[in-house]
Amino acid sequence: MSPVTKSLSNTVLLALFLTLIPLLHSKALALDTTMSSLSLIDTINVASNETDFHALLAFKSNIFPEYQQALSSWNESLHFCHWEGVQCGRRHQRVTVIDLASKGLTGSLSPYIGNLSFLQELSLYNNTFIGEISTELGNLFRLQDLNLSINNFEGNIPTSLSHCFNLRYFSAGQNKLVGEFPKELAYSLPRLITLNVRLNNLTGGIPPSIGNLTSLQYLNVYGNSFGGSIPNALGQLKSLSYFILSDTQISGTIPPSVYNLTLLVRLSVADNLLGGELPTFGFMFPLLQILQLSNNEFNGSVPLSISNSSQLVQLELGFNYFSGKVKNDFGNLHLLSLISLRFNNFDPRGSDGLAFLSSLTNCSNLRGVGLEESQFGGILPNSVGNLSNTVFLMTLGRNQLYGSIPSTIGNLAYLQTLGLDHNLFTGSIPGSIGFLRSIQRLSIANNNISGLACSAESPKDRMSINIALQELHLVKKNILKVNMDS
Ligand SMILES: *[C@@H]1O[C@H](CO)[C@@H](O)[C@H](O)[C@H]1NC(C)=O
Ligand SMILES: *[C@@H]1O[C@H](CO)[C@@H](O)[C@H](O)[C@H]1NC(C)=O
Ligand SMILES: *[C@@H]1O[C@H](CO)[C@@H](O)[C@H](O)[C@H]1NC(C)=O
Ligand SMILES: *[C@@H]1O[C@H](CO)[C@@H](O)[C@H](O)[C@H]1NC(C)=O
Ligand SMILES: *[C@@H]1O[C@H](CO)[C@@H](O)[C@H](O)[C@H]1NC(C)=O
Ligand SMILES: *[C@@H]1O[C@H](CO)[C@@H](O)[C@H](O)[C@H]1NC(C)=O
Ligand SMILES: *[C@@H]1O[C@H](CO)[C@@H](O)[C@H](O)[C@H]1NC(C)=O
Ligand SMILES: *[C@@H]1O[C@H](CO)[C@@H](O)[C@H](O)[C@H]1NC(C)=O
Ligand SMILES: *[C@@H]1O[C@H](CO)[C@@H](O)[C@H](O)[C@H]1NC(C)=O
Ligand SMILES: *[C@@H]1O[C@H](CO)[C@@H](O)[C@H](O)[C@H]1NC(C)=O
Ligand SMILES: *[C@@H]1O[C@H](CO)[C@@H](O)[C@H](O)[C@H]1NC(C)=O
Ligand SMILES: *[C@@H]1O[C@H](CO)[C@@H](O)[C@H](O)[C@H]1NC(C)=O
Repeated sequence: MSPVTKSLSNTVLLALFLTLIPLLHSKALALDTTMSSLSLIDTINVASNETDFHALLAFKSNIFPEYQQALSSWNESLHFCHWEGVQCGRRHQRVTVIDLASKGLTGSLSPYIGNLSFLQELSLYNNTFIGEISTELGNLFRLQDLNLSINNFEGNIPTSLSHCFNLRYFSAGQNKLVGEFPKELAYSLPRLITLNVRLNNLTGGIPPSIGNLTSLQYLNVYGNSFGGSIPNALGQLKSLSYFILSDTQISGTIPPSVYNLTLLVRLSVADNLLGGELPTFGFMFPLLQILQLSNNEFNGSVPLSISNSSQLVQLELGFNYFSGKVKNDFGNLHLLSLISLRFNNFDPRGSDGLAFLSSLTNCSNLRGVGLEESQFGGILPNSVGNLSNTVFLMTLGRNQLYGSIPSTIGNLAYLQTLGLDHNLFTGSIPGSIGFLRSIQRLSIANNNISGLACSAESPKDRMSINIALQELHLVKKNILKVNMDS
């Protein structure tokens, strides 16, 4: 028998068996021969809990002895319902939960696991299981939560899991799984809420059938070798909050249907070969907190409607071909912590390339501003000094910025990294630079700076200039190198 027919027939048998129990009961009551029927039920119970007992022993015997410490309570002096990580249903004394997360277990997953027919939750998260994921898991039609993440499971994701039609959470991230994601899974798991296969080596494209997982809220396939494109059908996942497809070798464009996923909290497709323009006004995700589009081939202008995602915390658009002027008003993004527009092709003409900086002054949690090597032109507005003093990293290097460095920059008291190098700045370095007490990396090289502003009259100013001179010394030694996009 193929594993599929085997597991199906097991399921059918069990279902028959369960419907038999009440029948036996009523018949027994009618005949008033409770004794015989009870003993029959007892036999059934014994048979079943013995099955669980043997299945658990088989599970244990597949763990290498030197890695079994966490299972020392798994011995006959204790009923198996009290073994470490095991929970049973109160009525039937059958195993319903196995939670062995982070127990240092090394070994393979016994096929006997498929005999624990009352199992609802299996977590082997963060151990060192090797070998394949047992196809017998497909027998566990009551299974709701399967967590195999952070192990060394190899081979394919078993197609038999499609029989676990009660599955809500499936997580097999950070293993060594290969092959295609079985399209059958997507047809038959209508209750699936979480699908996490991040950091494996799955190939063969992201199957469009995933669009059938209509309960899905969390989709994380980050770090696989899928290739292909983003299936249009993913736009059917109306409940989706997390859309994480970064680093999956996908190309093409973001299909318009994705812009219909208005509940998205995180949209991450960084490190792919995606391209094309994003809709100027149709990029509407009111709940979005994390937007990661870095390191693709997106072009056209930065969508204006991003400014309506008022919950945004991380905005990462670096390493693309975005062009034109950044005309966004970010003043509505009060929670913004990181904005990265670095390595793009903006329009350097005119003096207002960085005009949008003023709107960032409302972002009181701002920490990182990455704008280097993006062909920004124009002046650095005085309003830079009105950015939140939570900013610790600001990189403006390798652009076409001109005019003087505004002295207001000294307001950013907690700045640790400031990159202004390779621009067309003129004038002198403002003495207020000395107020940047936290500075660790300051880069001003390759400009037309004539020296340090020296109009110090008060002792305070003189002190700041002294510090500035020390910093200047630092400048000569340091080459700014930071990496913000991940
Ligand atoms: C199975 O259940 C029966 C009846 O409840 C009990 O006597 C027996 O000890 C149980 N066996 C195991 C291994 O738990
Ligand atoms: C069996 O489990 C109990 C309960 O954890 C423990 O006290 C006992 O040492 C174990 N026995 C063996 C032989 O490991
Ligand atoms: C994984 O388990 C080990 C103990 O075996 C623990 O030290 C580590 O913190 C765990 N890691 C995670 C990510 O849970
Ligand atoms: C349990 O599972 C194993 C392996 O899948 C199988 O050989 C065995 O017959 C099953 N049944 C019982 C009652 O243990
Ligand atoms: C897997 O288990 C870990 C540790 O308990 C937990 O943080 C994670 O949310 C679980 N994943 C799923 C999908 O249940
Ligand atoms: C992933 O699989 C592909 C094709 O089977 C192979 O070429 C590649 O080396 C694998 N990558 C890793 C990181 O194992
Ligand atoms: C499942 O997805 C496929 C591919 O998108 C589609 O053709 C099929 O109609 C879907 N089936 C159901 C039941 O939604
Ligand atoms: C977006 O959703 C609306 C309403 O459900 C639907 O009419 C439209 O076709 C969808 N657009 C795309 C591109 O899927
Ligand atoms: C963006 O790239 C596509 C090809 O990938 C091209 O057709 C389109 O004209 C480009 N748009 C802009 C604004 O450069
Ligand atoms: C922001 O949302 C409002 C209300 O939906 C809309 O009128 C406005 O055009 C949007 N602004 C942008 C820049 O998309
Ligand atoms: C800053 O926020 C206030 C209050 O939410 C708002 O009225 C103002 O327009 C915002 N400023 C900018 C520059 O967007
Ligand atoms: C910066 O803030 C100060 C005080 O809140 C205000 O007076 C000034 O106009 C602002 N400057 C700019 C350029 O926004």
